[in-house]
Amino acid sequence: MREIAIAVDGPGSSGKGTVARRVAEVLGYQLVDTGTMYRTVGLFVLRAGEDVRDEAACARIAASIQFRFAFAGGALSIEANGEDVSAEIRGEAVGAAASAVAVHPGVRSALLGLQRSLAGHGGVVMDGRDIGTVVLPNAELKIYLDASLDERARRRWKEHEERSFEAVKEELAARDYQDTHRAVAPLRCADDAIRIDSTGLTIEAVVKHIVALARALRA
Ligand code: DC
Repeated sequence: MREIAIAVDGPGSSGKGTVARRVAEVLGYQLVDTGTMYRTVGLFVLRAGEDVRDEAACARIAASIQFRFAFAGGALSIEANGEDVSAEIRGEAVGAAASAVAVHPGVRSALLGLQRSLAGHGGVVMDGRDIGTVVLPNAELKIYLDASLDERARRRWKEHEERSFEAVKEELAARDYQDTHRAVAPLRCADDAIRIDSTGLTIEAVVKHIVALARALRA
């Protein structure tokens, strides 16, 4: 059987992280969540007290991080320079810093080689914003997962109910704008990607659809 590379792109809270994890689990593929890399760079920039707008500082920090990923039992853990940062990178401030450092070409190029090498020779599900367009342009299956802003804001709000729905929605819209308008590798649907709108769909329905597409290509 031919093992393939599956690229999953989409905006924040589109469900792509969960979908990518489940698809990898069902197919027995390696999961590479590239958002965790940008989040870790954001975390380390904040910790170092550097400005997220300072490209040279952000790129230097990105290049200094040694990543290690472990995907077991459907859970992904990420180590940066020997420290498990899996939980800490999930915070809202780190997410905002990730989006800000991700605009810098120097940061993106520092992570690109690692991302490509993790794709190996297939048998991988990689999720992010620019996987189908830049990182793995030859991926056999490209998915662009979207959902309405309201639906995505509702999903995110469920994880952050201490905040107002309006604040969560506004922040998501700002993140969307930043991710789609940056000069280098902006979030967009690759020409040869299959667009899935998950508004009103369950995660399992989306997973089933993608797994069926993958199995057809794999045979
Ligand atoms: O998917 P996520 O929310 O964990 O990603 C965090 C930020 O990282 C996101 O706002 C944009 C950036 N990112 C990126 O620019 N390119 C990727 N391939 C993945 C994430």
